[in-house]
Amino acid sequence: MIRFQCPNGQFSWDKVSIGFIGAGQMAQAMAKGWIKAGVVKPDRVVASAPTNRNLAAFKELGCSTTNSNVDVLKMSNIIIIAVKPHMIGSVVEDLRSNVDFGTIKKQTIFISVAAGVPLADLEKFHFNAVTSVVRIMTNVAFAECQAMTASCFGSVAYPCTKEVLTMLFEPVGSHISLPESLMNVFVGMSGSGIAFMFSLLEGMSDGGVRLGLPRETSNTIAIQTMLGASLLAQANMGKRKLAELRESVCSPGGTTMAGLYTLEKNAVKAALMEAVEASCKRSEELGCAGKK
Ligand SMILES: NC(=O)c1ccc[n+]([C@@H]2O[C@H](COP(=O)([O-])OP(=O)(O)OC[C@H]3O[C@@H](n4cnc5c(N)ncnc54)[C@H](OP(=O)(O)O)[C@@H]3O)[C@@H](O)[C@H]2O)c1
Repeated sequence: MIRFQCPNGQFSWDKVSIGFIGAGQMAQAMAKGWIKAGVVKPDRVVASAPTNRNLAAFKELGCSTTNSNVDVLKMSNIIIIAVKPHMIGSVVEDLRSNVDFGTIKKQTIFISVAAGVPLADLEKFHFNAVTSVVRIMTNVAFAECQAMTASCFGSVAYPCTKEVLTMLFEPVGSHISLPESLMNVFVGMSGSGIAFMFSLLEGMSDGGVRLGLPRETSNTIAIQTMLGASLLAQANMGKRKLAELRESVCSPGGTTMAGLYTLEKNAVKAALMEAVEASCKRSEELGCAGKK
């Protein structure tokens, strides 16, 4: 039995129960990933949403569902807040009017996945003076246990909370701690960035189709090429720079240089840098909008 001793009591991993407030894209990806990785059993997961349209996917996974956020609060010791950033204020105020926050189990961990919403705003909700509040950002590759997750902690951050986060996020990809000031950059690179990768894949696949390959074959080639590039880059981390890996494929006057010249002429790298910046700014704006 794995137990973490926290200053606010004992967190027993064997009794972990995860509750999602909000059951959309992100919540579903997280539930799928955790169940697939064996982090939690489906009968220890509950999700709430006002309508049943997204809850059906949780039912299919074997999880409990409810239209009451209060039920989620009562049934879970890890609460994932997965509503749109501008909804958080009203969702928490609604909870507050139905539940005495003083009665929430002290070991409960609140985890917000909302883009842009700062910890200071989350902590203003005063869930419970001794309860940990964590802000994370991740992406939909969670469903395939290949997420990139970053987390930062509020003022109540026990070593045991960090251990619980490691148990939650390491089996479903990579997990890093980041200073909160960089969380919106992470939104641009990973939360949103995964869509930039889909766009690149689409472009590569279109390139093959344009020259006569069937779509499915073209998709297979594009996907495996990106996967191979990612794994090779990962295997070489700290050993060879990305530029060296690229250089290693470029023979003078060869085919790769011809293609790379086209990418450079069309400023693809600069476009990606601007895309990360645009997402980062939008995340800041959404966080500010949530305050209104
Ligand atoms: N999607 C991504 O790739 C991604 C990546 C990183 C972070 N995020 C963050 O994840 C959060 C959710 O995004 P999403 O893409 O999953 O959105 P989504 O698919 O639109 O899902 C939002 C969910 O919130 C539910 N909801 C609305 N009002 C509610 C209320 N009062 N109480 C409880 N649930 C309520 C919706 O209910 P219904 O099912 O009834 O409509 C829906 O299930 C956002 O804050 C976003 O910034 C998303």
